[in-house]
Amino acid sequence: MTAVPSRHELAVVLDFGAQYVQLIVRKVREQNVYCEIRPCTLPVAELVALRPKAVILSGGPASVYGEGAPSVDPALFHAGLPTLGICYGHQLMAHLLGGTVEPGRTREFGLARLRVEEDSTDGLFTGVEREPTCWMSHGDHVTAPPTGFRRLAVSSDGILAAMGDPERHLYGVQFHPEVTHTPFGPTLLRNFLYRAAGCRGDWRSADFVEEAVAAIRETVGDGRILCAMSGGVDSAVVATLARRAVGDRAVCMFIDTGLMRLGEPEQVKATFGQLLGDSFVAVKASDHFLGKLAGLTDPERKRKVVGETFIRVFEAECEKLGEFQFIAHGTLYPDVIESGGGATARIKSHHNVEGLPDDMRLINVEPLRLLFKDEVRQVALALGLPEAIAYRQPFPGPGFAVRVNGEVTPEKLDIAKRADAIVREEIEAAGLDREVSQYLAALPDVRTVGVLGDDRVHGYPVVVRAVVTHDFMTADWARIPHDTLARIATRIVNEVRGVSRVLYDVTTKPPATIEWE
Ligand code: XMP
Repeated sequence: MTAVPSRHELAVVLDFGAQYVQLIVRKVREQNVYCEIRPCTLPVAELVALRPKAVILSGGPASVYGEGAPSVDPALFHAGLPTLGICYGHQLMAHLLGGTVEPGRTREFGLARLRVEEDSTDGLFTGVEREPTCWMSHGDHVTAPPTGFRRLAVSSDGILAAMGDPERHLYGVQFHPEVTHTPFGPTLLRNFLYRAAGCRGDWRSADFVEEAVAAIRETVGDGRILCAMSGGVDSAVVATLARRAVGDRAVCMFIDTGLMRLGEPEQVKATFGQLLGDSFVAVKASDHFLGKLAGLTDPERKRKVVGETFIRVFEAECEKLGEFQFIAHGTLYPDVIESGGGATARIKSHHNVEGLPDDMRLINVEPLRLLFKDEVRQVALALGLPEAIAYRQPFPGPGFAVRVNGEVTPEKLDIAKRADAIVREEIEAAGLDREVSQYLAALPDVRTVGVLGDDRVHGYPVVVRAVVTHDFMTADWARIPHDTLARIATRIVNEVRGVSRVLYDVTTKPPATIEWE
């Protein structure tokens, strides 16, 4: 099921293989216009049938002259749809409408300065300074715009950086307005959406709540829906929506694996026990998980065992709760895009995501499948969930099983969790918790010598890992101030028995991963 009805204004991004295509969608939604990605091969008639208010042609790695280069039916430009081409999309628009595109002798990549030539007070660059900086990344460029187009901006080395035909509402920009290195990008996108395309901006997280609740109610009917809660923001939002939609016929189950952060199970139970009342079920299974992990040292094996144990516990507990027809999942839009699923695939039945067995025969409900993570956080706040949950940093499903290297024993688990709690406290106290994307303590499986009072101790080293990242695929280590690191180290060795030293991990990803296993 999907929660966004057709009454919202829609912007469509046609994807030509751009690295940043999801970013374009997010940046449009940040302007309060609902936006979806479609393949560039979507027939124009189908695109028109969606009745979009605006169309954006993304960038892409191809050259318009390359063999098999992706293209669109030129009828698109005569359909009366306000259209903005970005980078490759800009070159393609120029090429298909009779302009000239030439191969660059070199790839231009990086920051560039523009000179704005547009003289309108109601155009693409309204409110933008006359010589702004922007981010360029291209080989080819447009040397002559098509008939009817005006030059709106040039780069300092003379390349046509923006063109427009205001009468036909067609625009192209060579640079990337969607990336943060183009500081006026949001203004330009807003001008395109509101001035050129006439959008009014009707996309807000609070509306999403009502619409999602209505959609769940309709899908579930008189049935019962099961929500697995991990304590993370996605499953918390799904559970809250389901409960609002069908009351006690939504049952939310939280399994305490014993592998979560210090105090987290208690926080989840207190928050959701109160919010969800009797339909919240907490299952304590930490001893069971520790038993299953005993003697295991291989990281992949540990991950697998945690996953399998989770499923078995979940199944056993579900049986006690009677019959369900639906299961809720916190699938997000990036997962939908990556799995090649269109936003139109609404209900997938007998689906076994996250390893749930096929024979559970539950129909999958995915209320968040059209949202990005930052939108889910906004929805969480609109639902009244605490900030600690709305902004909870990512936490791996296997939890501390992959932060305690080697065998997971109760002693090592306890040391890692206590050290981690100190890392969190100090980073939050320093006001760095929104700046640093993920921060944690890991416990390597070695011992080192230290001196405590007059005694030599043979304790564990604790590794502090803190990274800054947008996508968690690549990451840089966070430049945490030395005095914050010093406080973390002092507190850990003083407050956590069994620790002899504290190390700070200064490795980027790649080559290192964020987690230690
Ligand atoms: P790595 O360690 O691969 O982590 O750089 C990237 C992001 O994914 C999280 N992570 C996991 N999440 N199950 C999960 O649900 C896992 O097995 C797992 N391993 C890593 C990690 O915390 C980081 O945010």
